[in-house]
Amino acid sequence: MSLLHRFNHLDTLLNQTSRYWQLVAFEAHALPWDGALNEWLMALSDEQVTYLDNHPQQLHQALLPFIPQLTELEPLLQLVHEQRERHPLPFWLSNGIKGRKLLQLQDFVSHIDERQYPVLEWCAGKGHLGRMLAYDGAPHVHSIELQASLCEQGQRSAQQQNLPMTFSCADVLHDDTFGYFKQQQHAVALHACGRLHQVFMDQAVKARCEKISLSPCCYHLFTENVYQAMSDAGQQSDLRLTHSDMKLALQETVTAPERIAKVRKKEVTWRLGFDALRCDITGVSHYVSVPSVNKAIFSGEFSEFCEWAAQQKGITLPQQCDYAAYLIQGQQRKKVTDRIELVRHAFRRAIEIWLVLDRALYLHASGYDVSLYEFCDKQLTPRNILIQATAQIEERTCAR
Ligand SMILES: C[S@@+](CC[C@H](N)C(=O)[O-])C[C@H]1O[C@@H](n2cnc3c(N)ncnc32)[C@H](O)[C@@H]1O
Repeated sequence: MSLLHRFNHLDTLLNQTSRYWQLVAFEAHALPWDGALNEWLMALSDEQVTYLDNHPQQLHQALLPFIPQLTELEPLLQLVHEQRERHPLPFWLSNGIKGRKLLQLQDFVSHIDERQYPVLEWCAGKGHLGRMLAYDGAPHVHSIELQASLCEQGQRSAQQQNLPMTFSCADVLHDDTFGYFKQQQHAVALHACGRLHQVFMDQAVKARCEKISLSPCCYHLFTENVYQAMSDAGQQSDLRLTHSDMKLALQETVTAPERIAKVRKKEVTWRLGFDALRCDITGVSHYVSVPSVNKAIFSGEFSEFCEWAAQQKGITLPQQCDYAAYLIQGQQRKKVTDRIELVRHAFRRAIEIWLVLDRALYLHASGYDVSLYEFCDKQLTPRNILIQATAQIEERTCAR
């Protein structure tokens, strides 16, 4: 299936099903769907919700009777996933890179099947990826990074390890970085957030880089609240993705340890309980967020949390307040929120693939052959999609 066909099919299905995923769960006081789905969701125990949330295949199966479009959606989300042999690394190269990150980098490198061109590494951090590519045979790596301390550490490691690497400290959203891109180059960006990788793609395409490899992440960061599509097909779509929708694509996180999950559960319940109290005091019914806070507050009392939250929002609490009743309201709203999120989660990969296809189509229209892969297991990182683009022959000839 062509990229365009796949995008258009996915786009149609996401439009048809938007009432299941394009909503803010925190705003809801009751489930918004028809009887049978609502009844099924409310009959689930919290343990069943957690289980289904951690098992996308079972969630998909369970929702099929209520949302039949999921059957058509599934095959559109499949990408080539092959475990390639990880290139062995000497200890001095992998030293200081933590377990899962190291495997993720090795898998990324093993999917980059090109070592001929000098590499431009975008938003490089300490340049771990660049060092691996340089060790693996890339003739030179130029790493661009915002934070001077990371550039210094990366440059020091590269010098000590005698690897052909140069760092440039730059803010890629504000500085003029176009001069860093060359035609005879492989431009690489691993997990550069939102606008950072969009700028990268724009400039790599303008410079007609021979190869472009990127794994996008955090699609909403540094961008407008309503998504500005990159491809023609994306721009013609009726979907209006907001930051909240784009964040949904990122919610496929690796399961949190039990202790952290417990605190998170309490935090959400208390926030929703306070929201019910705030609503009664102010009469404003839509959800009002309260800033993030040190988690230590959640080992105290709910009333203390409410006092802190009221202060943040400039609200005076009544002398007499039935905190226990508001805590129950928080628990009830959490039950609703969790079940709305469960249904939304069935669409998170679909939204991510829509965003990835928008990027792939943009590269294709700019004269590149484009392939999409899952370069590693989701357990290593849920942001495991690799977009690889190679300048088409005729485009290369024209550019010379
Ligand atoms: C998620 S990290 C990815 C680092 C590395 N590519 C990796 O995968 O290990 C994103 C990096 O982008 C850098 N960054 C953020 N904003 C930037 C900007 N405006 N210009 C250049 N780099 C930026 C951050 O400092 C950070 O090192």
